[in-house]
Amino acid sequence: MGAGLRIGLIGCGTVGRGVVEILAAEGSEIARKTSATLELVRVADTDTDKIRQAGVPEQCMTSDASEVIEAPDLDVVVELVGGTTVAREFVLKALAAGKHVVTANKALLAHHGKEIYAEAVRHRRCVAFESSCAGGIPIILAVRQGLVANRISALHGILNGTCNYILSEMADKGKSYAEALAEAQEAGFAEVDPTLDVNGTDTAHKLAILASIAFGVDVDFDRLHIEGIEHLDAQDLAAGQEMGYVCKLLGIADRTPSGLSLRVHPAFVREDHALAGNRGSFNAVSVYGNWVGHTLYYGRGAGSRPTASAVVADLVDIAVGNQPRVFEAYRNLNDKAAPPTYAPIDQLELRYYVRLMVVDRPGVMAQITRIFGENAISLRAVVQHEPPEGAGGEVVPVMVLTDVAAEGRMRSALAEVARMDVVKSPPVMIRVVSEHEEYAS
Ligand code: HSE
Repeated sequence: MGAGLRIGLIGCGTVGRGVVEILAAEGSEIARKTSATLELVRVADTDTDKIRQAGVPEQCMTSDASEVIEAPDLDVVVELVGGTTVAREFVLKALAAGKHVVTANKALLAHHGKEIYAEAVRHRRCVAFESSCAGGIPIILAVRQGLVANRISALHGILNGTCNYILSEMADKGKSYAEALAEAQEAGFAEVDPTLDVNGTDTAHKLAILASIAFGVDVDFDRLHIEGIEHLDAQDLAAGQEMGYVCKLLGIADRTPSGLSLRVHPAFVREDHALAGNRGSFNAVSVYGNWVGHTLYYGRGAGSRPTASAVVADLVDIAVGNQPRVFEAYRNLNDKAAPPTYAPIDQLELRYYVRLMVVDRPGVMAQITRIFGENAISLRAVVQHEPPEGAGGEVVPVMVLTDVAAEGRMRSALAEVARMDVVKSPPVMIRVVSEHEEYAS
């Protein structure tokens, strides 16, 4: 049986251009392999030059998104506008107009997923969003369908290509933060507003979507703990390397006895950790299931071609009739689930690396260690480094590595340390994250 799909696309930026290119280059091969005929009928962008540059014929382009959303001759709308205001409106209208929706918009789904999925179910249409998480890696397919037999105990991922690129380039090539960020922007990995990448929000959006699929619950985005990489410095990465650690921005979803622990933060992982070798704009995701054990997914998590590859996969899945059935069946499970409980961040028990910028004066080290001791935190190492080049000699970095400690105590200690006169900037803290137990209960 042949399956033709008439497609409208809104947003012809980095990913949209990739979709146009793949459909042109691979359409007939996809049809040969799958029996799905994907026909790009209309493309909208407020900047029609972008559509023209992607090679779309004049008669297929418009600057008016409603000509895609309202068109009676389309089966599916691909939303690649980004953001959560106009995009939400477009998606809801497209569903109401009887179109399936494919979107790469993780912010939209993390904040408004519940409303959008309910609207899709109401109109008996589907929302496919493989491209929203981890770019070209088919992680949603894997977690939702491939691992469905399992109770997932944890999902740990490097989910932001921009941050991973910055951290790798700083650690491996000695580049500055600003230089590496500019390169990520140039390469098309970064969000339009790269603040969302570096402050951890983009990772959190993806984590919320993946956790909701892994655990079969609706995740409240506001309950995620989010920290980014903006406060990290080359000297932190170097100190980690001296101790055998690599620094990664991790999205962590753990099922714990006190609820879901959902958090995004920089983490030191040992060099032999499953995620440690992941460099550049690549993403990597470890998922731990009670039957399957540890599974690991790896690939390019950002950029035009990998993300467009996932968009096209969703289009084929809709064309062959699979996605609408899967969407309806699996989403209804979440609707019946009780809202999850969330484990407070203070209950974490980890080891911590801390950098303090302190005045170089006798007795300072003793004051600092006393505060940690009074908070029942045992220290593994305290090292004073040379000041960073050009910083003058008066303020020096002191690096502290703790034993396993409760995060609540750690926060109290750091608040106290930060109030010391001799501490000249807010402490930088990096959690040390071990490989998750393969068959956690
Ligand atoms: N800006 C994202 C990243 C790519 O750097 O990973 C799209 O999700």
